[in-house]
Amino acid sequence: MYGIIATWRMALEGISEAADMLKKSADAGDSIETAIRAVEDFEFYKSVGYGGLPNEEMEVELDAAFMDGDTLDVGCVGAIKDFANPVSIARMLSKEPVNNFLVGAGAEKYAHRHGFERKNMLTERAKTHYHNRVKETTENTELKPYSGHDTVGMVCLDDKGHMTAATSTSGLFMKHAGRVGDSPVSGSGFYVDSEVGGASATGLGEDVMKGCVSYEIIRLMKEGKTPQEACDIAVNTFDKELKKRRGKAGDMSLIAMNNKGEWGVTTNIEGFSFAVATENEEPTVYLVK
Ligand code: GLY
Repeated sequence: MYGIIATWRMALEGISEAADMLKKSADAGDSIETAIRAVEDFEFYKSVGYGGLPNEEMEVELDAAFMDGDTLDVGCVGAIKDFANPVSIARMLSKEPVNNFLVGAGAEKYAHRHGFERKNMLTERAKTHYHNRVKETTENTELKPYSGHDTVGMVCLDDKGHMTAATSTSGLFMKHAGRVGDSPVSGSGFYVDSEVGGASATGLGEDVMKGCVSYEIIRLMKEGKTPQEACDIAVNTFDKELKKRRGKAGDMSLIAMNNKGEWGVTTNIEGFSFAVATENEEPTVYLVK
């Protein structure tokens, strides 16, 4: 069995490419990287890669991660500027013996040394969004995740049972310089173990990180829960917990797949979309109401 599941409609083209590869017995690492790169490269997605919206200093800072579910290798970049495909840098970092999570200038030096493509990631369209937002912003403007799209997070299973997870995001629009969200943080934005399954998150990183929600889903699947049961328990329990202790919970949407290709999704928002393809299911977009 093979399969791939991803947050948001914007992942459809990427997971379709990956599904074609998986059908021909490609590896889960290559397939997920291809799928995430497709989202990073598409300039009209405002929350990932090229065309991603900038921070408050009008700089596009990107976070990404890659995890191998066989070896549990993890590679991550945070607040990296001017590189086209952060997920590929994260994947290379996952193979290093140490120094697996690099941020800012350190991540850029590593990427440059290893020949990754430099690119000005700030598009004219993103600049226009920035200038419009500056005009609208007041002292009390709250930073919120995007509506209808945000981090792209994926879990992939190949026909040899190898699983991977990966994420990529430009994070919150107008975030402070140097702010890093949940997406490159293992256990929060993503987690995968080929002996069990994987999960990935989109939403308000600051809240997702309070609950290590992706890892919690893997833990529940390990106890025997289906991906859907695990997502429901992890997300709904944590959403309630945040509301009890803090009076509110930020946006949180989780996707999961186990090592049999069964999948599940839970969200605490209206209008969360996700995309999935398996050996038995053509690439399909679902909208959670
Ligand atoms: N979930 C993306 C972020 O908070 O940066």
